[in-house]
Amino acid sequence: MAQGTVGKMARQEGDYIKYLFGRHISHGQVRYLRCAHLDIFEQSRQGCTFVDPASGRKFYDCFSSAGCFNVGRSNPQILQTLSDTLDEHDMGSFQMLSTAKIEFALKLASLSPGDLNRVMLCASGADAFAGAIKLAKGATGRNEVISMNKAYHGHDGFSLSANGKDYYKHLFVPLMPGVHFADFNDLEAVKRLASKKTAAIVLEPVQGEGGIHVATGQYMTGLRKICDENGIMLIFDEVQTGFGRTGKMWASEHYGILPDIMFIAKSMSGGAYPNGAVVYRDIEPLTGYVEKNPLFHTSHAGGTDLGCIVSSRVIDFLVENRVWENAASVGKRFKDGLLELQRENSDIIKEVRGVGLMIGMEYEYEFVGALMAECLAKQGVWAAYSGNAPQVMRFQIPITASLEDVEDLLSKIRSAVRAMRWYLFLLLPLARVPLFRGILDNLKVQIFSFNLVRDIEEFILGRVLRRS
Ligand SMILES: Cc1ncc(COP(=O)(O)O)c(C=O)c1O
Repeated sequence: MAQGTVGKMARQEGDYIKYLFGRHISHGQVRYLRCAHLDIFEQSRQGCTFVDPASGRKFYDCFSSAGCFNVGRSNPQILQTLSDTLDEHDMGSFQMLSTAKIEFALKLASLSPGDLNRVMLCASGADAFAGAIKLAKGATGRNEVISMNKAYHGHDGFSLSANGKDYYKHLFVPLMPGVHFADFNDLEAVKRLASKKTAAIVLEPVQGEGGIHVATGQYMTGLRKICDENGIMLIFDEVQTGFGRTGKMWASEHYGILPDIMFIAKSMSGGAYPNGAVVYRDIEPLTGYVEKNPLFHTSHAGGTDLGCIVSSRVIDFLVENRVWENAASVGKRFKDGLLELQRENSDIIKEVRGVGLMIGMEYEYEFVGALMAECLAKQGVWAAYSGNAPQVMRFQIPITASLEDVEDLLSKIRSAVRAMRWYLFLLLPLARVPLFRGILDNLKVQIFSFNLVRDIEEFILGRVLRRS
């Protein structure tokens, strides 16, 4: 079935694709999605929504592939650019000079904050993280890095070592040595760790997978000072926060301070062609290191002509439409609506926080994250809880969303919270007993029990359908 068309998918066809997906990609992934009624397909991807062809239901995309679809699903202008480009280009050879590469680098440099005007082209967010860390280490000749608890920078060897949750990395040690962790927004902790051995302090200005924690102004100014005093490179991971998501083009603009290095990916793809980049200040240790070691961080997939042309168009689209302003105004209404919901349900919703269209809703109990994903899916909302903080549901719709989208979405979220109360009526008394709480919070138990409930639902539905 062609993407963009809404054809009805027969139930058997859907089941067969799921079977094949499980057989050849991951059965566990199918079960994981199935337990939240998210074993669905995406067709007719447009703006903030897509349609599941099996059920014909429309879904709001509040996950946006963890922040890839800032310019909206299947943005026609971006897809047209890619399609036109394919008439004349292949992806290009990664070591060759090309106008596509330089046009993109120029646009990025002119839009990046302060004197961050040097660009390294990369393949993905994790690849850009590795490039940024190597650049900081190479330029300073130092070997230690300070990262934040609950941070997420990707899933490869470099970025896993800076991941702020042990769950993902305990099987793969030893990873990159010399990485120290501080609590996010705890300046004193960073001060205690920083030394003349520290090459870089790396953080997301708003932690995404960590549960939507926004850095305070005082913290950011303090980090800049620590870096200046100790010759440390300050690195901002703007993979999720960049390209307008927080209501400014770059999250760093909220603070009025500059990082030495920032890296980006995801939404620079326009949701159409993956790309990533490291952007750094034109200062001697950084520029000098790159000039002496021009091929120190390359990948055949980093900075392809196709990716650069698409990313250039993404920048034009954002600038022409000043889309970050929409993220700020629509995001304010969204957050206000969620705050209202929180006040009405303060026994289960602990906090709503975020900036622009990067908003998180934290529950009192960790297991509620999975439950809420299921209740939202039943209302036609695809949202994912934070990987490093399951008690926080993330809402990151495309930043092209309209106020009408947000009002509709808010009413669906309200219905989902209402539905969730039925489950909580049974589960909350159990959750107050520490032993049961541990069981409820266990991901394996959640997947097993939600799939069991789903089996029962489908069995009953099957019998009802057979009878009628
Ligand atoms: C803040 C942040 N940094 C880095 C990455 C890694 O990006 P990629 O998936 O392109 O490797 C992610 C991905 O979710 C991210 O959220």
